[in-house]
Amino acid sequence: VSRIASIDGRIGPLEEAVVPVLDRGFLYGDGIFDTLRVYGGRPFASEEHLARLARSAAALRITLPVTSSELLREVKEAIDAAREPEAYVRVMITRGAAREASLAPPSGLRATRVILVEPVRPPSRETYARGLKAITLAWGRGNDASLGSAAKLLSYVTSVVALEEARAHAADEAIFVGPDDRVREATASNVFVLDAAGNLLTPSEGPGVLGGITRGHVLELACALGLSCAVESVPKAAFATAREVFLTSSVREIMSVVRIDGVAIGAGVPGDTARSLHRALRLRAGARGPAPWE
Ligand SMILES: Cc1ncc(COP(=O)(O)O)c(C=O)c1O
Repeated sequence: VSRIASIDGRIGPLEEAVVPVLDRGFLYGDGIFDTLRVYGGRPFASEEHLARLARSAAALRITLPVTSSELLREVKEAIDAAREPEAYVRVMITRGAAREASLAPPSGLRATRVILVEPVRPPSRETYARGLKAITLAWGRGNDASLGSAAKLLSYVTSVVALEEARAHAADEAIFVGPDDRVREATASNVFVLDAAGNLLTPSEGPGVLGGITRGHVLELACALGLSCAVESVPKAAFATAREVFLTSSVREIMSVVRIDGVAIGAGVPGDTARSLHRALRLRAGARGPAPWE
């Protein structure tokens, strides 16, 4: 076993895991999730991820069916059951399964909880070595509802379509830009820019910008490495003169972007700042082995 699903506390093989069609997560995308990574059998920043999960649930007025500490215990049980030291964990909470499909949630529903554990599938060594090509898109998550920025809502259809759009432009990733031409985030990661003066910038969390856990760790590490770093609004025009651009997320850790809308960033190869921060992040997470681009 290395692919596990725990549904409402019952652990079984992922291939056999099912939730009812009347579950509101399936019917309406009425739920939230969080993703974390396991290094050497130990989840990294699990408390931060479960705290964000609880905030996401609160934003949707979903009552968690068990306490956060019980949920953490179930997450660890699922990780142990998978016996997969380098794993990806996805914790999902839906508002629950009703007796009939009706948009207004009936009272007395009990939220469904699903924990998936699988071997992590990070991008290839070549991808890390080369960096990504991205396009910018003037739309994105959280444009229509303030909910969408605070919470990791189940539906990522916006990001899915954005990735299709990127692919149609022979790119790997899409970066969302707000109507004010301010950089928001990528399809499932936060954006950092090392500007021409050597300042490391990342947009503040808020509408269309998720408060990424990796982002928080990278900011701390950047300060510790003596970089000048700031959480502030970043205009799209900053890409034109940036020395480096990189993305952060639990699964990909740090991934350089070397070309945006067809224009090279800096020298057009992954930069030294991204590399140093990536090494520091992996050290903090307890990752073993060579850096992913080596
Ligand atoms: C939209 C979005 N922004 C940012 C992130 C990065 O968050 P984290 O570093 O907590 O994984 C994610 C992660 O999946 C995401 O989906």
